[in-house]
Amino acid sequence: MANLCVVGLGYVGMVTASCFAHLRHNVIGVDKDERKIELLAKGIPPFFEPGLEELIKEGQNNGRFSLTSDINEAICQSDIIFICVGTPPDKNGQSDLSQVEEVSRSIARNLNSHKLIVEKSTVPAGTAERIKQTIKITSPNIGASYSVVCNPEFLREGKAITDFLSPDRIVLGIESSKARQIMQELYRDFKCPVLVTDITTAELIKHASNAFLAMKISFINLVADICEKVYADINSVADGMGFDRRIGREFLGAGTGYGGSCFPKDIKSFAAMAGVLGVDATLLKEVDRINEKRIFSIINKLEDALWVCKNKVIAVLGLAFKDDTDDIRESPGIKLIRKLAEMGSRVNCFDPKATNNAKIELHDLGYPLTFAENPYDAVREADALVFMTNWPEFTRLDFQEIRQLMRTPVIIDGRNMLRAEELTKLGFWYYDIGRCRGKGKTSVMQQSFFDMTVWED
Ligand code: UGA
Repeated sequence: MANLCVVGLGYVGMVTASCFAHLRHNVIGVDKDERKIELLAKGIPPFFEPGLEELIKEGQNNGRFSLTSDINEAICQSDIIFICVGTPPDKNGQSDLSQVEEVSRSIARNLNSHKLIVEKSTVPAGTAERIKQTIKITSPNIGASYSVVCNPEFLREGKAITDFLSPDRIVLGIESSKARQIMQELYRDFKCPVLVTDITTAELIKHASNAFLAMKISFINLVADICEKVYADINSVADGMGFDRRIGREFLGAGTGYGGSCFPKDIKSFAAMAGVLGVDATLLKEVDRINEKRIFSIINKLEDALWVCKNKVIAVLGLAFKDDTDDIRESPGIKLIRKLAEMGSRVNCFDPKATNNAKIELHDLGYPLTFAENPYDAVREADALVFMTNWPEFTRLDFQEIRQLMRTPVIIDGRNMLRAEELTKLGFWYYDIGRCRGKGKTSVMQQSFFDMTVWED
């Protein structure tokens, strides 16, 4: 079993550390935030992620997962060092790599034995070269033995533990046979394709994957806008496209646009990197621009229903950037609330997990914003109700009761997750994103004769 340390206990770091401990490796988790280490030592995770708390406790109880804020000690005791620190965007959209540089310097100071340095943070192509150069320049131990590997992660928040333990693929950017041997041993029990390539290619795979997924989302959102103009149905368009194996149905969910700590940042960083290299990145910039404008699709619908949003009470359900997380970074719900406050609306909001984070983020808004204890309190006397996060529990709400509580029965379903017919029957003015309203209904027959025939009812 390997002795490894994970530097940076954000999403990627916490999941990496606790999953490797679960796989019986000895893991030291390092973070310079001492408060976070204190809470973790008590078994309290710094954020909500299904299954994480259990894994942290398991690792602490069997002694495989320890914690420290002393990076020097952690590096000295480890053979493998995972770099999982943040790479936030700077004002030009480029990745700020100062934390990666700082960790590289710490590694350089502590090369007491052969170290395998694994780059897990999402970084621009060429970063591993800079890590090596920094170690070379700053290490007092000339001739120390180490190698750098790029092993990008493809975890989705909310499904991170499953994604880690059952990945679609493992990508290894490797430059020495020793590194290859150690990494293959580490991932020995994983049953998925392992792509071994050079380091720069591996770095690029991560950025290209996220940019491609973001592009799928912006593409389908653009098509959804067209559907609204011609009364076509975006879900059926996505189904019809998705049956083509070259396209695939995943990430063709139209809605409020992508958020989170990855896609918005990564697409900007990828475009900025291409720009620096003199490569035309218009495509990537358009993906980002379409996404930035998604909020107006909701605003336009509110104005269509209410005419004027000023002084209206809008209930916003969903503050997390997606379901199963309390993460509000780049969340469409938060962006909408800011816009509504600017327009003079009053907002009552609710989220099953992200309310505390949202309170901190939106503390400057003051009066026009209130946080409800439950969805029903949020919709009381509201002129419109907007769904911004695809929490499954929102689909199970009692809409009859909601109808009675609201001042005017307007629902904007930013995630296309509710049943239009039921809500219309209850008397709601129901808006969604690019789904045809009462025109045609598409179904797919699975019987042999009609196999794959698409019927218009
Ligand atoms: C994303 C990638 O999916 C991971 O593979 C990657 O490892 C991660 O970024 C990262 O770079 O760390 P994540 O941001 O956690 O993961 O969440 P996703 O499930 O990919 O969703 C991203 C955003 O796209 C969310 O706002 C979601 O609501 C939105 N989305 C997703 C859509 O609007 N439509 C879809 O069809 C799918």
